[in-house]
Amino acid sequence: MAASTAPAPAPPLLEIRGLRKVYGGTAALADVDLTVHHGEIHALLGENGAGKSTLVRILAAVEHEDAGVISLGGEPLPARRTTRAMSERGVVFIHQDLGLVPSMSVAENIAQYAGYPTGRLGIRWPDTRRRARAALARLDIELAPDQPVAELSIAEQAMVAVVRALARDARLIVLDEPTASLAAAEANRLFAALRALRTSGVGCLVVSHRLDEVLAHCDRVTVLRNGTLIDTRPTTGLTARALVTMIVGHAPGPLPGKRGLPGGRPRLRLDGFSGPGFGPLSLQVARGEIVAVTGFADAGHLALVDALYGARTAHGGVVELDGAPYLPSTPAHAIAQGIQQVPSDREALGLAGTLSARENLFLNPRRGLTPIDLRRERRAAARLMEEFDVRPRRCDAQVSIFSGGNAQKLLLARTLAARPRLLLLAEPTAGVDVGARAAIYAKVREACGDGTSVLMASSDFNEVAEIADRAVVLHRGRVSKVLEGDVTVASVTGAAHGS
Ligand SMILES: Nc1ncnc2c1ncn2[C@@H]1O[C@H](COP(=O)(O)OP(=O)(O)OP(=O)(O)O)[C@@H](O)[C@H]1O
Ligand SMILES: [Mg+2]
Repeated sequence: MAASTAPAPAPPLLEIRGLRKVYGGTAALADVDLTVHHGEIHALLGENGAGKSTLVRILAAVEHEDAGVISLGGEPLPARRTTRAMSERGVVFIHQDLGLVPSMSVAENIAQYAGYPTGRLGIRWPDTRRRARAALARLDIELAPDQPVAELSIAEQAMVAVVRALARDARLIVLDEPTASLAAAEANRLFAALRALRTSGVGCLVVSHRLDEVLAHCDRVTVLRNGTLIDTRPTTGLTARALVTMIVGHAPGPLPGKRGLPGGRPRLRLDGFSGPGFGPLSLQVARGEIVAVTGFADAGHLALVDALYGARTAHGGVVELDGAPYLPSTPAHAIAQGIQQVPSDREALGLAGTLSARENLFLNPRRGLTPIDLRRERRAAARLMEEFDVRPRRCDAQVSIFSGGNAQKLLLARTLAARPRLLLLAEPTAGVDVGARAAIYAKVREACGDGTSVLMASSDFNEVAEIADRAVVLHRGRVSKVLEGDVTVASVTGAAHGS
């Protein structure tokens, strides 16, 4: 018998066949297949709740599949594997919640993955710091190794999580929305680092809702919808529109329009307002207007909205609300003044994971001492979940079971339902899928029609171009340019560079 002359193709880096995971009767993953080749950057896409993080958690062995086979380099993994076994096989993860230890320094967090250099006297701290500095420098990141992670912005934390993962010899790097809170420039740096690893055969699986960056940096995409596999395709020749259609199942709808130039007395007026990382700044937001403060992640826009909410101490300057002086002090004071905020760090500041969706929706301080009317609250919660398309629609379910994007929708629903005078939004749609994003913008616009004013801090220039009536672009904490009428990705990018 003649032997076949063609050599057997090398097995793929990662091969998933028939993956299945059921939570309380609903399949989060139903017979999903996925292949990642050596040296490939593969995007995993889908709506909020599609099953992306579930797949990542199963790969990480944080959870276990109900059925299916996962092979690494052709070798099937045992069904009951440990997280440690995965890391020993060179699979490294950056999870949606980053998984850093906030009380430890940047260097210590990096050393958790890269290892601590030790000598006769135990850990060699100067070397630990030096290694951390070198790992940060490789990605062009200026952070002090001794700084506690808790003091970093969410974007800086994301960069530390990436640096930490890259500091180790990996075969496969799995990233769950690493760029959700990064500006395009930082996301580009991250992808450049991932691409540099391709030549040594390292593969990447990246979960993202940022379709432009997926098309720019990834080789292939796999799309999930409601836990089922829709398709796997190369990105070459794929348009953003075609991708949206694969993800949501229909062509993208129109975005809500913008408002004309507003008039009348300003709702919010800042004069020489300054705080950690920003200012002195002067700007105004009119009644019913959406003003974006934007720039690269460290431009100061996120610190500004935190300071206005009283979540960070301001240094000085004048703040007026409807012509009356307002002194930011604590979030409770801000809420009493009719100010609501969607924070950028929702894990830490936004939702209480162990409480139900309903309890989170009505966390705001109640007026007076009226007892809780549970039936009414349930009805109101169900209505809000319907309006904001929070899935699943289970108001008594614990918040921790909701996917990242659905948790963000709960947070937005809560703040908008409070009908604030001033709404402070920090990265409002970070982690929200393309379909839900348009619906959220429509809700924000609707609130503006009812008189709410919005100051939105966003590092997503597409988002700024899509909904801001005006954009105040910051560079190193100072106003670089105020854009009116011509708020486009190109004009914002130019101003963000300080030009
Ligand atoms: N422990 C759990 N118990 C019950 N349901 C769960 C649990 N964990 C996840 N789910 C459900 O499984 C589904 C898939 O969630 P998953 O986190 O994988 O979504 P995702 O694709 O990562 O979404 P996102 O883009 O919003 O992060 C969701 O409907 C979610 O509510
Ligand atoms: Mg997720």
